[in-house]
Amino acid sequence: MTAHTDTSTRPASVAGQVAEPWWRDAVTYQVYVRSFADGNADGIGDLRGLRDRLGYLADLGVDALWLNPCFPSPMADAGYDIADYRDIEPSFGTLAEMDALIAQAHAAGIRILLDIVPNHCSDRHPRFQQALRAGPRSAARSWFWFRPGRGPGGDEPPNNWQSYCGGPAWTRVTEPDGTPGQWYLHLFAPEQPDFNWDNPAVRADFVKTLRFWFGRGVDGFRIDSAAVLVKDPLLPDLDPEAGPADPHPYNDRDGIHEIYQEWRAVADSYNEPRALLGEVWIADPQRFAKYLRPQEMHAAFNFRFLQCAWDPAALRAVIEQTVDFHRPVGAPATWVLSNHDVTRHVTRYGRTDTRFDFDDRGHGRPVDVELGTRRARAAALLYLALPGGAYLYQGEELGLWEVEQIPDELRQDPMWRRTAGQNPGRDGCRVPLPWTGSEPPFGFSGPGTDEAEPWLPTQPASWRDYTVEAQLDDPDSMLELYRSALNLRRSVPGFGSEREPLRWIDATDGVLAFRRGDAAACVVNLSADPVALPPHQTILLTSSPLTDDGLLPSDCAAWLTME
Ligand code: GLC
Ligand code: CA
Repeated sequence: MTAHTDTSTRPASVAGQVAEPWWRDAVTYQVYVRSFADGNADGIGDLRGLRDRLGYLADLGVDALWLNPCFPSPMADAGYDIADYRDIEPSFGTLAEMDALIAQAHAAGIRILLDIVPNHCSDRHPRFQQALRAGPRSAARSWFWFRPGRGPGGDEPPNNWQSYCGGPAWTRVTEPDGTPGQWYLHLFAPEQPDFNWDNPAVRADFVKTLRFWFGRGVDGFRIDSAAVLVKDPLLPDLDPEAGPADPHPYNDRDGIHEIYQEWRAVADSYNEPRALLGEVWIADPQRFAKYLRPQEMHAAFNFRFLQCAWDPAALRAVIEQTVDFHRPVGAPATWVLSNHDVTRHVTRYGRTDTRFDFDDRGHGRPVDVELGTRRARAAALLYLALPGGAYLYQGEELGLWEVEQIPDELRQDPMWRRTAGQNPGRDGCRVPLPWTGSEPPFGFSGPGTDEAEPWLPTQPASWRDYTVEAQLDDPDSMLELYRSALNLRRSVPGFGSEREPLRWIDATDGVLAFRRGDAAACVVNLSADPVALPPHQTILLTSSPLTDDGLLPSDCAAWLTME
């Protein structure tokens, strides 16, 4: 298998300009594989289904796809528990199918990013199984964090760390001789043992995995839970009194950077350098930016933007800070509103409190879907006009909202199970996409296969008006708004070029207005009243119709060309 040979840069939007690396301003579409499209009518989305719909994505106008993990997995955490890093999950397809997908996507001008999970694997991974069998103090156990328990008989976990999925971050094993034994660390579910990144064999194994996929033509990786790999080897208790400046025993430790420096060298060793995109949840912008230094990752998700309220002052502050703290490291900013872990933004923006918070997802609180949709439309024109990479989560282009009424017995997310229902979990943003027809499952398994029940059979009946089929060619639909915006982002000088600086335009309170380059501008009205547009040449696109007197209504955005 040879690596693909197409060029790693996109054509410059303006003649004479130097072409920028593609990842600086790409629009990346996140494919949650098992909910995107089912190609063999078993109710589970797969690579075949994705290949069948590549035309849809090419027409939509995206530059790259990020696929959530599609490696063999017992699916304790929807594929974030990987049992083999160098193969394809059988319910999603085969390696040959992945090769075909890569080739087909490249032929359509679309890049492929996979999702690598370095912090932990599946408890079914052969290395972990071997560690269990090998017993305490073995070399096999040093791939993970095995420790004796505390208290009489070692009955207590080795420290007080809590899992992100709820409950202690430690589980006790039974030793091969049948006695209660050591405990192993899992920052997520017990089925997800943490690797010990102090072990050079772990590092070497991941480099091997990177090379395996890069050699097959994969254009880059999204790096899962990227900031928690390195642990304080003494595994001290988490100090509840510790301040943000104190070193944390596992989050964002200084030693993490050398891992990504090694990965960057691997990515850069190809003729067409491959991209590394981090899932870095770190509040401190300076520490966040360290991951984006020239010898580390290419980009990282901007979760402050995602978490921000639909509020003009708050949004402006986040946008300014984002641009400011990316500048010194020379990395492109990123803009993202939704993903497979967070409440869909139509729902967030339709609530009184429009922020996102993992600890309080706002589940069950009243939602004005019409208002949320209106704001989501304006937000689309806002984030697609900002300088840098844009990340779009499947279904947002259809205006889908969070499905909150999921019967308990259908819920799959370990967050829901492990918190005994206290945390509703993330199933509500992972519902299979509606493609065609008037009844669930809306052609999810292909035309004429509506008897196949999707793995999460919870599409609302009202999605009949939100299918791809219903929205295509309807000029008022969310899908056509995205198609127009993505098309303009490519064709209008300014919007799509990350190097064109953002310059604010004076505007009334509650209005965000900025230029991109000389020619393009975006105006978003977050105030309660209609406002006049700034002097302009043409109106390229608006998220809702202007008022009869040509004013920009509340919660509406416009793209303009300027004089
Ligand atoms: C990341 C993923 C999330 C997963 C977790 C553990 O946050 O986005 O879906 O559960 O890591 O791998
Ligand atoms: Ca399938």
